[in-house]
Amino acid sequence: MTQPRTIAVLVGSLRKDSSSRKVARALAALAPANLAFDVVEIGDLPHYDPDLETDAPPAAWTRFRNQVAKADAVLFVTPEYNRSFPGFLKNAIDVGSRPWGKAVWAGKPAAIVSTSMGALGGFGANHALRQAISFFDMPLLGQPEAYIGAADSLFDASGALANEVTASFLRGFGQAFAGFIERVVGSRTVREAA
Ligand SMILES: Cc1cc2nc3c(=O)[nH]c(=O)nc-3n(C[C@H](O)[C@H](O)[C@H](O)COP(=O)(O)O)c2cc1C
Repeated sequence: MTQPRTIAVLVGSLRKDSSSRKVARALAALAPANLAFDVVEIGDLPHYDPDLETDAPPAAWTRFRNQVAKADAVLFVTPEYNRSFPGFLKNAIDVGSRPWGKAVWAGKPAAIVSTSMGALGGFGANHALRQAISFFDMPLLGQPEAYIGAADSLFDASGALANEVTASFLRGFGQAFAGFIERVVGSRTVREAA
């Protein structure tokens, strides 16, 4: 039986008209119904500073860590900034990585979608992000890879996805991610029950 699974979604753009956020919304709408997408806001996280890691860390850090911790999986949807991913997304990854030994990322299955106005679809951002999360023992969806080029041209004035090829791709991506989560989380549940 297919279990409900919650996915923490981190979007690497702060602007209102973000194509990355529209891609995340479209993916959520096209994905299998057992996946619930929970967008975790990261624009308000104070810069990671170990000196603030006290018994009372910044409230935004705690809200963020709790929201990611309760998710079954993590989806990153990010544009490319200067051949990498935006700095505030790195800050969110750093905030989630501490306190030492309590990373909220640990063991959670993940997938990465990169976007760009250009033709390369944010390849540099996508792979820089793979490197940043490689420390956390996060099983990462290998196929399909998702590099969404010309992202600003894919949506109509209301923000709805208006490109059938991309819709079909995102539908398949959602199905692949759902299957991947089941293989990772579902097999753990079976092992725990044994
Ligand atoms: C500071 C900055 C750096 C950028 N660097 C790149 C880049 O290296 N490669 C690229 O393809 N696009 C680059 N872009 C373009 C963004 O990828 C593009 O604006 C993208 O659509 C932004 O995503 P959003 O619509 O989700 O905000 C850059 C944009 C900004 C603001």
